[in-house]
Amino acid sequence: MNRGLWSHHRRIILAAAGVVTAIGLITYATVDTTVDDFFVAGTQPGMLEVEIFTQESCIICHGYVDPENVEVAPNWMGSMMAQAARDPVFYAGLAIANQDVAFAGDLCIRCHTPRAWVDGRADPPDGSALLAEDRDGVNCHTCHRMVDPIFKEGISPEEDVEILAAIDPLPIRPGSGNYIIDPEDRRRGPFIIDDPEPPHGVPTLFSPYHKTSELCATCHDVSNPVFERQPDGTYALGTLDMEHSTGDQYDMMPVERTYSEWLYSDYPFGVDAGGRFGGTIEDGIVSTCQSCHMPRREGRGCIFEDYELRPDMPKHDFAGANTWVLGTLVDLWPEDTLLDDDLLGAGQDRIFEMLELAATLQAEQDGGTLMVTVINETGHKLPTGYPEGRRMWLNVEYYDEFGELIAERGTYDLDEALLTGSDTKVYEMLLGVDAAVSAATGVPEGESFHFILNNVILLDNRIPPRGFTNAAYEEAGAPIVGADYPDGQYWDDTDYVLAQGAASATVNLYYQTSSREYIEFLRDENVTNDWGDILFQEWETHGKSEPFLMATATVSLDPFASGDHDLDGDVDAQDFAHLQRCYTGAGGGPVDPACEVVDFDFDDDVDLDDFAMFQELLTGPT
Ligand code: HEC
Ligand code: HEC
Ligand code: HEC
Ligand code: HEC
Ligand code: HEC
Repeated sequence: MNRGLWSHHRRIILAAAGVVTAIGLITYATVDTTVDDFFVAGTQPGMLEVEIFTQESCIICHGYVDPENVEVAPNWMGSMMAQAARDPVFYAGLAIANQDVAFAGDLCIRCHTPRAWVDGRADPPDGSALLAEDRDGVNCHTCHRMVDPIFKEGISPEEDVEILAAIDPLPIRPGSGNYIIDPEDRRRGPFIIDDPEPPHGVPTLFSPYHKTSELCATCHDVSNPVFERQPDGTYALGTLDMEHSTGDQYDMMPVERTYSEWLYSDYPFGVDAGGRFGGTIEDGIVSTCQSCHMPRREGRGCIFEDYELRPDMPKHDFAGANTWVLGTLVDLWPEDTLLDDDLLGAGQDRIFEMLELAATLQAEQDGGTLMVTVINETGHKLPTGYPEGRRMWLNVEYYDEFGELIAERGTYDLDEALLTGSDTKVYEMLLGVDAAVSAATGVPEGESFHFILNNVILLDNRIPPRGFTNAAYEEAGAPIVGADYPDGQYWDDTDYVLAQGAASATVNLYYQTSSREYIEFLRDENVTNDWGDILFQEWETHGKSEPFLMATATVSLDPFASGDHDLDGDVDAQDFAHLQRCYTGAGGGPVDPACEVVDFDFDDDVDLDDFAMFQELLTGPT
């Protein structure tokens, strides 16, 4: 292993508790790790004979914009992967990670701009050595030089034998950016190109690997190697200044498990999505990441018209769920001539379309209850990926017969960017630190946004995909926590007590990329640079990561009895007090109009039968 490129600066441990600096900011002790703690298998800095080129070497022939054709470079440029090293949320997060754990930035830069990492520019790990060209992020040449870490006889290119022989150790399973990049410039792609004059002047190899999810897995399972999984399933700090003891991603603290969520679902075997995601050509079956994130279309593989029109050109959309960061980039990098408002805007639209495809929402009345079901249509958890600040929630609006809004659950205040989550279902993953990490760093025990210090999953109630099993998810570090999804249940049900007087209910499913709490955290905890402030400003001027409406359903309600008289979403002691005031006794009606709501059996009195029915509706305060 070539680790010689690295200088082994050591940080001094400040103290075993938070330290208040002269200007009153709380700083925490930096964990005394070295770059060795972040060792990840695969290609190491200094191993490439030819550097990774920027997109500019490719767009001449792959950069056309033609509505009738498949746009490779323009679509990629409108995706978050092309912007992974321009993303202000990334830089704000990077600063905190380096503050918390020395050399953590080495891990981050590895995935967010591989061309910089393999060339040694993650030293120093704060990103200050990055070149302007490194902002290319996850670019063409990176992906198209990636080598399958498992050689497959008769399938993998023969050249791979020698490349893999030089890699020590080989990755145990894909993740954390353990890519193997061809040290030479040999481009790999999904097609067998039978051309007497090969297109690139360098070898172009047929690579079945590029049609698999395993390629994406390299970066879409993210683990923190500073922590070691213990026999009881908890995660504890490993020995410092040393590689992770097993090097297996599943023995490290899980951060993102998008690939594993997919792997242990029905999707690897193919799922009939009824054409929802464009499908893999005509049959509508989706399986790999590519089938949904690189949908097929007819087109040419380059600008030259004499190349054949292929029926199955993968579009480089890579649309995910980021609803606002693309919009900040032109402001942030005004000198960057590669950024183009139109391309970024088109990329943003594709993301919105993706979010609209992600879920099916159903709502139905059952007496005084509104039953809401959210069905996950994606190939992983919904939502998936980066946990911090990302969330999805149900908003319910009750209207009276005149169409006036009379009550709401899951209210979101757009100006304040604050969600009232206590009276509704919020789908999210919450991480935190345990007592041991708290003692070592001074970060308070419990929920935290300290990505690189977090070692406990406090909650993960995100909806799993078709065919998942709890046992496999636990093994893979993707457990369901604080919710109950029996194996295979790819939907979630929520019951609401109907608000009294409602004639219709509208249910809205919202997604948010970055919560106010997370953005404020990145601003307030930053004691090293101004990325936290820059991010906060961008967030404020670009709509504060406005929630995106993924799906909506409206139900007109039949007359119903509800125990919820004070319209606060539960049936509790206060409602009972109201019921008592309305008591008429059997046959003692007529019922006061204000009390009709508690005449559950509609027999024109409020008697013991109504009290019994009220008891069934009791939920207790929520
Ligand atoms: C995140 C990895 C990734 C990035 C970045 C990427 N590609 Fe691809 N590319 C792929 C994969 C995977 C396929 C094959 C997909 C399949 O067939 O399922 C592909 C297919 C292709 C193809 C053949 C089919 C086609 O659509 O034309 C070309 C050419 C190509 N890529 C060029 C580029 C260029 C040029 C860029 C940069 C502008 C780029 N790629 C960026 C992963 C990537
Ligand atoms: C194994 C590859 C990998 C590593 C290592 C990695 N990331 Fe990421 N990061 C990703 C992927 C993939 C996503 C996008 C997932 C998604 O959108 O849900 C992402 C998303 C993010 C986001 C969200 C960006 C946004 O616009 O909301 C931030 C912030 C971030 N990463 C910071 C970091 C930091 C800080 C580190 C190092 C401590 C790091 N990442 C290490 C792959 C990686
Ligand atoms: C001089 C023009 C030209 C340039 C520059 C160029 N390509 Fe290509 N590329 C082509 C042609 C032509 C094809 C064949 C298209 C086809 O057969 O449909 C091709 C095909 C590909 C394929 C598909 C290979 C396969 O086997 O499936 C990939 C991947 C690719 N190029 C990547 C790149 C990358 C990455 C760059 C920049 C580093 C690049 N190309 C630069 C002309 C070019
Ligand atoms: C059946 C279609 C489907 C498949 C298969 C699929 N995805 Fe997705 N993916 C989606 C949809 C829809 C969304 C948007 C909703 C969401 O965030 O979950 C999405 C979102 C994402 C995001 C963005 C998350 C964020 O927080 O911004 C990432 C990253 C992602 N997918 C990666 C992958 C990877 C990697 C694979 C393969 C292992 C994959 N997807 C397989 C449909 C799919
Ligand atoms: C070299 C690492 C790497 C590889 C390989 C990779 N990704 Fe990513 N991907 C990232 C990073 C880093 C981000 C996050 C960028 C950010 O948000 O700042 C990301 C983000 C995404 C997103 C989220 C975009 C959004 O809107 O939130 C999708 C979708 C995605 N990748 C799909 C794929 C697919 C499909 C593949 C395989 C064909 C793949 N990626 C391969 C590193 C990678």
